Amino acid sequence: MSAEPYLPFTRPAIDEATIAGVAEVLRSGWITTGPQAKAFEARLSEYFGGRPVRALASGTGALELALALAGVGPGDEVITTPISWVATANVVLRAGARPVFVDIDPTTRNIDPAAIEAALTPRTRALMPVDMAGLPFDRDALYAIARRRSLRVIEDAAQSMGASWKGRRIGSFGDLVCVSFHANKNMTTAEGGCLVLNDAAEAGRCERLRLQGVVRLPGGEIEVDEAGAKMNLTDVAARIGLGQLERLAEFNARRRVLARRYFERLDRALGCELPPADFEQSNWHMFQVLLPLERMMIDRARCIALMHERGIGTGVHYPAMHLFRLYRAQGWQPGDFPHAERVGARTVTLPLFPAMAETDVDRVCAALGDILAAHRR
Ligand SMILES: Cc1ncc(COP(=O)(O)O)c(C=O)c1O
Repeated sequence: MSAEPYLPFTRPAIDEATIAGVAEVLRSGWITTGPQAKAFEARLSEYFGGRPVRALASGTGALELALALAGVGPGDEVITTPISWVATANVVLRAGARPVFVDIDPTTRNIDPAAIEAALTPRTRALMPVDMAGLPFDRDALYAIARRRSLRVIEDAAQSMGASWKGRRIGSFGDLVCVSFHANKNMTTAEGGCLVLNDAAEAGRCERLRLQGVVRLPGGEIEVDEAGAKMNLTDVAARIGLGQLERLAEFNARRRVLARRYFERLDRALGCELPPADFEQSNWHMFQVLLPLERMMIDRARCIALMHERGIGTGVHYPAMHLFRLYRAQGWQPGDFPHAERVGARTVTLPLFPAMAETDVDRVCAALGDILAAHRR
């Protein structure tokens, strides 16, 4: 094992002011959804250019409510990418609909807009593209298809908080935008998420759906017209989010600096494929290389184990979803999406988080370089 401290692939950056703020909330006598959640929603709405926003218990919850608001249900199809966290497809199944995968663009590793056309059917109800690793999917192409075919777009922007598309912040435009504040994200509430909505009516329904369908009437009575979920964000979590949102720009700037350093320090002769060098739009949620498996005498799992022995944490984000047993059972099979399968089999997430030092990047590059050089075929 390495003598140096273990370097995880990510670590949240929670400052002392936020910790003190959370302690205050805990002492306040009101710890679930209340004034902090309201304030967090107001700040988020400002951040997204004044659009209505509702804070939720998770990014998955945001996707589920977005599907409900888009009217997706049994018999419907939703087009999405095989390279994402499995939540993206699972929520479609749980809505009673069918996720229809299309391949990724091998360069961006996001859904390939050119592949969507062939997957459209009269049952297609929505497109659910993902900003993988915080690199925005092609908004122009996706929304052009959606307009032409009258489809809803449910943006899985779980990973792209603070990213932008052609100078516009993700979430400040578009249809339904779903964000995650899971612990690993660029800003966190430990667990949490939010949904950016189109208008007050949609926001009102979202509010009801996130808490049992309850409608509060004047005079304190309540009424219920539809069975809602239980997806409200606590004030404890919202207070973390308020502290994080204030520092998001700084966090993302730091991630960008570290990502640049990876490009400078990773030895290209090793044969790893690097992500697109986008320092304008991406929020650098993750830095992922594709391993040159044909040139290696070890497999990815062994490579990850050797990195771990050197005191470096890595991750696999993500295996292609259509190859999970659940999705194979629905007819998807190896060979369906060659680009996604190639990326899913090779990808390794290297450490990237704001508190990392430049020397940490150098250490990761040196370790990966040594391991690949020592096991070259
Ligand atoms: C692409 C993507 N979609 C959806 C989710 C679900 O978000 P959460 O974990 O907050 O439910 C995540 C995060 O984990 C994600 O990375």
